[in-house]
Amino acid sequence: METPHRVIAIDGPAASGKSTVARLLAKRLGFVYINTGAMYRAVTWLALRHGIDPSDAQAVAALLNATPMEFGVAGNEGTIRVEGIDPSPYLNDPDVAAHVPAIAAIPNVRERLVARQREYAKYADLVMEGRDIGTVVFPKTPFKAYIDASEEVRAKRRADQGLRDDLAARDKKDSSRAAAPLKIAEGAHVIDSTCLTAEGVVEEVVRQLGLEQSLR
Ligand code: DC
Repeated sequence: METPHRVIAIDGPAASGKSTVARLLAKRLGFVYINTGAMYRAVTWLALRHGIDPSDAQAVAALLNATPMEFGVAGNEGTIRVEGIDPSPYLNDPDVAAHVPAIAAIPNVRERLVARQREYAKYADLVMEGRDIGTVVFPKTPFKAYIDASEEVRAKRRADQGLRDDLAARDKKDSSRAAAPLKIAEGAHVIDSTCLTAEGVVEEVVRQLGLEQSLR
């Protein structure tokens, strides 16, 4: 998709540090930061709230037809409202984390959310993070990074956040699903964050993607 705005696509497995890096990078560039994982988590939260099985694709689609979701921007970050509620306090709940891969594997859910993600690029320059930003959402963007880290470091990062999250199980499901599985996009710069600080990863992204001129 051609877009008048620049999109920096940041993909990678769970807890690779991409949210921290994407947020910092957006701030330094003056771009809008969009966390697409939060969008899939918000749908998961909605389904659980309504007692709907997250793997029941038809029931989830019917629920989404009946429930408008608002995706906006405040400051320089994406916002979400579902049924008039900001679901962000609930999006890291262990229940949501455990069920989000099932929701993210439903093609109809992905189509809807990908359309909303592309909408954002009509209005602003973006740093967008997720699993399929460089492969599916904005495959033509010249700015793609894939952030990785060892499984040990990723597990430690989640534990340090005080969050319970079965990363290995989630990564396996996210990488093996039929619809837009997690993989390294063509042209993506792979950055291993295992031994780097978040600032260090941002520096690497800026350097490898040639973004020095765009810094504020
Ligand atoms: O980045 P995260 O851990 O908050 O993402 C939550 C889940 O959403 C993750 O298990 C995979 C899914 N996801 C996806 O399929 N595609 C995206 N662009 C972003 C997240």
